[in-house]
Amino acid sequence: MIKVGLIGYGRAGAAVARVIEADERFALCWIARRSAGAGDAAIPMTRLEAGTFPAWLDRHPVDAVIDFSDAEAVHIYGEAIRRRGITLVSAISAYPEATRDYIRGLGRDIRVMSSPNITLGINFLMFAARMLRRIAPFADVEILEQHFRDKAEVSGTARKIAEKLDVDDERITSLRLGGIVGHHEVIFGFPYQTVRLVHDSIRREAFGTGAAFALAELVKYPPGYYTYDELLLNLIRQEIGSDVVPAHA
Ligand SMILES: NC(=O)c1ccc[n+]([C@@H]2O[C@H](COP(=O)([O-])OP(=O)(O)OC[C@H]3O[C@@H](n4cnc5c(N)ncnc54)[C@H](OP(=O)(O)O)[C@@H]3O)[C@@H](O)[C@H]2O)c1
Repeated sequence: MIKVGLIGYGRAGAAVARVIEADERFALCWIARRSAGAGDAAIPMTRLEAGTFPAWLDRHPVDAVIDFSDAEAVHIYGEAIRRRGITLVSAISAYPEATRDYIRGLGRDIRVMSSPNITLGINFLMFAARMLRRIAPFADVEILEQHFRDKAEVSGTARKIAEKLDVDDERITSLRLGGIVGHHEVIFGFPYQTVRLVHDSIRREAFGTGAAFALAELVKYPPGYYTYDELLLNLIRQEIGSDVVPAHA
């Protein structure tokens, strides 16, 4: 069983905690946040502070840390987990470039995976869309994203899909209506057929499923910095490798 510490217990972190707690591959040992709020009393909770965190880690050892807090937090706990060989899964959406470099540097000593899009479904959609784009570069591509009425900006995930498919952001259509949690659709227009790849987010627990997937894969690797793509691709290679018939068999 993998012992896990969770950093961040906000909207996403609370949902992730529920998923990790319910997954028998993991033991959720503690939660660290900015405040000292009690939260779920069943799990020890601490305030994340540079002065006290190393001693907390020694009293509450874990194999891995999952971060759903903010971009600053890794500067508080980074060296403490590096020294103890603790694996890191970071879901922080946006790091400044210097912090991103620091996290990559942690990969020299520990296993690290950092992804701004941690749901398994979106990562699979991006992978499948990239494959189709490569196979059929002549097909038209449009990206449709739908979210709740008050979401102001264009979805970062939709922009990421556009970047991965090498299409202009102008190919993204955004709809804002009601309470839609998150809908992403990539539409490939062929001359005589249409392919639609669709992902719908239902609940924030999907972030937990994604983090659990990443962590379960990451612990199979030696220390290093990994992307979600690499973990997913290696697994897909292993799964389909034996089905592939060599071209000159
Ligand atoms: N990769 C993905 O797919 C994905 C998905 C969802 C969210 N996220 C990212 O996850 C992060 C949290 O999102 P959210 O919506 O849950 O935000 P949120 O509701 O504002 O919660 C943030 C949590 O992090 C804690 N926190 C903030 N700064 C901290 C610090 N310096 N040290 C320790 N704890 C700190 C807060 O502590 P208090 O409770 O004490 O205030 C709170 O528990 C964001 O970066 C978001 O972009 C990523």
